[in-house]
Amino acid sequence: MTNRPTTIYLKDYTPPAFLVENTDLHFELAESKTRVTATLRLRRNPDSTDPAAPLVLHGRELTLRDVILDGRPLPAAAYAVDTETLTLAGVPDTFTLRTVTEINPQANTSLEGLYLSSGNFCTQCEAQGFRKITYYPDRPDVMAPFTVTLVADRAKYPVLLSNGNLLEKGELDDGRHFARWQDPYKKPSYLFALVAGQLVKIEDRFTTRSGRVVTLQIFVEPRNADKCEHAMRSLQKAMAWDEEVFGLEYDLDIYMIVAVDDFNMGAMENKGLNVFNSKYVLARPDTATDADYQGIEGVIGHEYFHNWTGNRITCRDWFQLSLKEGLTVFRDQEFSADMTSRPVKRIEEVRILRQAQFPEDAGPMAHPVRPESYVEINNFYTATVYNKGAEVIRMIQNLLGREGFRQGMDLYIERHDGQAVTTEDFLAAMADANGADLAQFRRWYSQAGTPEIHVTTEFDPASGVYTLRCRQSCPPTPGQESKQPFHIPLALGLLDRQGNDLPLQLEGEAAPHEAGTRVLSLRQEEESFRFVGLTEEPVPSLLRDFSAPVKLQIDLADADLAFLMARDADPFNRWEAGQQLATRVLLGLVEDLRQGRTQGEADVFSEAFGLTLQDREADPALLALALTLPSETYLAEQMTVVDPAAIHAARKALRQSLARRWQAELLDTYERLGETGPYSIEPAAVGRRSLKNVCLAYLMALEEDETVRLCQRQFAQGDNMTDVIAALGALAHSRRPERQAALAAFYGQWRQDPLVVDKWLSLQATADHPDTLMQVRALMAHPAFSLRNPNKVRALIGAFCHGNPAAFHREDGSGYRFTAEQVLALDPLNPQVAARLAAALIRWRKFDDGRQQLMKEQLQRLLDAPRLSRDVYEIVSKSLS
Ligand code: TRP
Ligand code: ZN
Repeated sequence: MTNRPTTIYLKDYTPPAFLVENTDLHFELAESKTRVTATLRLRRNPDSTDPAAPLVLHGRELTLRDVILDGRPLPAAAYAVDTETLTLAGVPDTFTLRTVTEINPQANTSLEGLYLSSGNFCTQCEAQGFRKITYYPDRPDVMAPFTVTLVADRAKYPVLLSNGNLLEKGELDDGRHFARWQDPYKKPSYLFALVAGQLVKIEDRFTTRSGRVVTLQIFVEPRNADKCEHAMRSLQKAMAWDEEVFGLEYDLDIYMIVAVDDFNMGAMENKGLNVFNSKYVLARPDTATDADYQGIEGVIGHEYFHNWTGNRITCRDWFQLSLKEGLTVFRDQEFSADMTSRPVKRIEEVRILRQAQFPEDAGPMAHPVRPESYVEINNFYTATVYNKGAEVIRMIQNLLGREGFRQGMDLYIERHDGQAVTTEDFLAAMADANGADLAQFRRWYSQAGTPEIHVTTEFDPASGVYTLRCRQSCPPTPGQESKQPFHIPLALGLLDRQGNDLPLQLEGEAAPHEAGTRVLSLRQEEESFRFVGLTEEPVPSLLRDFSAPVKLQIDLADADLAFLMARDADPFNRWEAGQQLATRVLLGLVEDLRQGRTQGEADVFSEAFGLTLQDREADPALLALALTLPSETYLAEQMTVVDPAAIHAARKALRQSLARRWQAELLDTYERLGETGPYSIEPAAVGRRSLKNVCLAYLMALEEDETVRLCQRQFAQGDNMTDVIAALGALAHSRRPERQAALAAFYGQWRQDPLVVDKWLSLQATADHPDTLMQVRALMAHPAFSLRNPNKVRALIGAFCHGNPAAFHREDGSGYRFTAEQVLALDPLNPQVAARLAAALIRWRKFDDGRQQLMKEQLQRLLDAPRLSRDVYEIVSKSLS
């Protein structure tokens, strides 16, 4: 690619000059030369700002054979072709354009456009992959009905699929056959898909509440036919849930899902024909963990929910990506919360947000939920657009209430079904349906950075007034030096000394609100809330259920945190209090280590840990989360200058000291929670397993013979992957000789199953060992690894760079050099995956001078490389500037 790619700006948006009234595609599929005939019915857009504009179609890496306008072949002089476009000047106001192009799917390693996975054809068009298939106005505000004919060799490609309904299929000469599909709903090109290959089909049905029967089909490679049941049940649950909670029904007679092993992301919501990374479809108790099962349910739901939020109503332009992604993540989160445990789900969401989005918001790639500019749109499928975007939707629900939110959704769909719209349109529907003022709230879409709220409190016993003083601020981000105050929903409760929620009455109110949680609106840089009628100083429980994606700072005593951890009525804040306490202890240990001091005591936290461990009333899943220490990445975010080695050592030391202090209780809990009966993915069973395995991991921190034997037994006898991988993981972190034998046995048993092999790679890449990088390099030469498969790259290299901070940030810079090397090797094959790897280097400013130098050297090495992709160029250049 070029060395100075152009930047695209939201402010430059103009409506398309031409609309497509109908799209007819004809594919003659062959591995190295596929012929695509596109017949487009085009019409000048009456809303275009330029009534004389030429027709400009997007197209990349296409071999153009013919251009035919209203039946007349055009001479080459009648159009202009460059590497990105096909331009025709002086065209009529309505006309039919036919192009014939050739592409080479076999040579496509970017996994964007038409490519081969395990010998089967599939497509990935979002965001701009359709232009690698044929010349087209490849932008989401151009929507058309599609008819698609697929022709291929019958023996090699017995299954031929595209969007919508099957119109006809039949035999052709030379052993070929064909299928013709029609999608009656207008859609943008990014939702187009085709699949052709040797696949088996698992079929079931769903009857909508209006009584229509929908055929559900999951297509997989024959060896995976016995791993689809959970995906099918998840789909049926998602369909029922969207009817019940949002009143939304499916709109075609058939819904197809195809699982492929080579995929850049999780899955893709193509109309009526989702294409999935096999990781989010395939599960059997002995091959998939509880987390895998939950991931499948969530992603199946996510893609299904896109049918309304994304497909029926789509984005006007790619700056609006969160219109569909933030909203659809919110919907899949709510679905999973209803299917499993709401508080557990909420805690996991916040962990992801803090682990991935807060660092992004504090780094050189920070961008608003609705970005203002991009170089490569693929770099903006981010935690900010997805997860912070979902938090923004959740805040709207917190402000309007569930009913008001539903009314807003109804109005949004009523107004915009069949359109390509903006986040402003969404907010307008929410505001109009509720008579609410969301003008200030809009800043959540336009301002980047994580807001901070500093709270101080004051109690006046004489008047019984308790004052909360809130000051909000937001650090500068690239291109945004100063910020306007946000409209922040702050959910809170005040606890009496027994831990009961107090009735809340603000000064000036006639009567107190019922005891419990209340949502305040923060709108100013500084404001105070005065609660009246209190007889003693309460303990504040703020930001309950994480009511806004902010950093809250309030100076509570250790004892108050321990009290909240034990007593708060809000399960999220019970967990949060424990995390705050643990963070304090860990950051103290980090300082002790850095100063060479003897390590301080962790009594308050350790006692609270012990009480939690022995709690027989609470949900084991919540206990497991409460006993899990904040991650190294989270701790790093709390430091001005990160010391990855000290963080790692401190966390390890605390784990060991907790294990020593509570060894008997950990063992007792472990034994009490042993599997009874057959494997079940019911939340209660999942929770038991997670607590049991948290206990096992603590016990293994001591690496005693007895625990090693426990691990070996669980590894050998476990009838489910959750238990097996927990035991293997504990062994893999240890320095024990039993480690190697267990890893070898596991590979021997599962070498034929790529998704299980990914787990084996990841365990070794994240192992707490001095020679992990050497191991990773060795594994790259192992037959199980391939640089062409994104799952393998993520499982091994990605896990090392993003999931093993102590090894990645080794002081000698070896981790950084390795990363740059792999980015350079990967970039010509798959720029999207290469760019995500490069992101591991971009936050050099957070580290000491030595590491800063080493990281910058590698970034500069990338920037100096010839033919860098736009994807990697954007990440690296923004980091260095
Ligand atoms: N729209 C997809 C989703 O979130 C995301 C996606 C799938 C994607 N594949 C992609 C985005 C490739 C960019 C490139 O459900
Ligand atoms: Zn999505």
